[in-house]
Amino acid sequence: MHDRAAYRVPNDIAQIVMSPHSYTREDILYPAFKWLRENRPLGYAEVEGYDPIWLVTRYADIMEIERNPALFHNADLNPVLNTRAADAFTRQINNGSIITVAALTHMDAPDHTRIRNIAANWFLPANIRKLEAQIRVLAREAVEHFLSFDGECDFLKDFALKYPLHVVMTLFGVPREDEPRMLKLTQEFFGSHDPEEQRADVVAQTPEASAAMFFAALQDFYAYFSALTLDARRAPKDNLLSLIANTRFEGELISDWEANGYYVTIATAGHDTTSSSTASGMLGLIRHPEEFAKVKADPSLIGGLVDEAIRYASPVKHFMRNTTAAAEFHGIALAPMERFMLCYPSANRDETVFEAPDDFRVGRKPNRHLAFGYGPHMCLGQHLAKLEMKILFEELMPHLASVELAGEPRYVETNFVGGLKSLPIRFKKV
Ligand code: HEM
Repeated sequence: MHDRAAYRVPNDIAQIVMSPHSYTREDILYPAFKWLRENRPLGYAEVEGYDPIWLVTRYADIMEIERNPALFHNADLNPVLNTRAADAFTRQINNGSIITVAALTHMDAPDHTRIRNIAANWFLPANIRKLEAQIRVLAREAVEHFLSFDGECDFLKDFALKYPLHVVMTLFGVPREDEPRMLKLTQEFFGSHDPEEQRADVVAQTPEASAAMFFAALQDFYAYFSALTLDARRAPKDNLLSLIANTRFEGELISDWEANGYYVTIATAGHDTTSSSTASGMLGLIRHPEEFAKVKADPSLIGGLVDEAIRYASPVKHFMRNTTAAAEFHGIALAPMERFMLCYPSANRDETVFEAPDDFRVGRKPNRHLAFGYGPHMCLGQHLAKLEMKILFEELMPHLASVELAGEPRYVETNFVGGLKSLPIRFKKV
């Protein structure tokens, strides 16, 4: 590994990119990404407590890796960055395996293709559009609740947070009264480093406690969804859960492991991402009042607002890939099982792709951001996420005369999936 020295990332920069805490600080995080794009676009990070990894921060390099799934696998090792101790603990309590959920993001071909195909058509725009009327009802309900506040609220907690969950749970046929339980569980999956997001009964001070918390949330989730699967098999319905539950491979019903894994992936991937992107869109409009005025004057810009909100938020902070074989990549001799952290928020601020990338521009064209990833794992729910957000802003904007910050925006402490957890605003109604 003699050639690694030339690629080594200074420890303080590596710590920033890898530590969950930095993702609460835009002022620290984005300059670190910029430094890496300019100085170590493929940077070798050796941070105490972690396996050595490559940090990938340029747009073009992330795309190159994602479009080569034969060389860059998701799941021979953990597709999510964790400390060595946490990974070891997971293996210890999980029969030696790092894979705790049959999630699409934790699979490679051919299993990945087989499982993704179950719902691939269901998530295409032609089918998603059929849900528009149903989603609009939920959006109107959310806007009505927002308008019940007297000029001041937390845009994330009081408005953006629950709507995507309602949408996903409606697709699954989960009763309304059970949604708070689902919300809590999914936040525990993703927010496990954030003290405010943890289960009351487990204070996750250590990696072991974090992993234990994850397993507890997972067991609750499986128990809940197993009952819904049985119902869907007894009386199939026209919904996503029923489609998955009744899938057969060579005549055999899909296993509980694979069905549960699919539900967990969709339920968890489908709402924190969308709610924090919605809130980031509002933050962008607050920081750039001229963009707010443009959208007010021309609602056809809402599609552009949604794309820009997702780029600006980049709520998925990374996924990992590992090499499957020795290979040469950008002049570097790689060994099998080297790990790469794909830093999506950095790709989305890459100045060689986006003009003035730190600005928020609803008219940005083209806006081919990488917030949904790329290649065979590219977000399955991207059309749904965009439709949900578009409908929500279409319903909201006509009621808003002006909006400003009423306190500091605050972010979830996570290096994986998350974003704003609080956005206090003051607003005037039309
Ligand atoms: C703004 C909202 C969203 C963002 C930014 C986002 C982002 C992502 C990213 C970055 C990936 C990994 C892509 C890769 O490895 O190349 C992903 C995968 C996935 N997303 Fe999303 N997502 C969003 C909303 C949704 C929604 C609403 C759903 C479903 C209801 C969903 C379901 C999935 C699934 C199932 C995968 C796994 C795909 C695979 O591995 O084949 N996502 N998403």
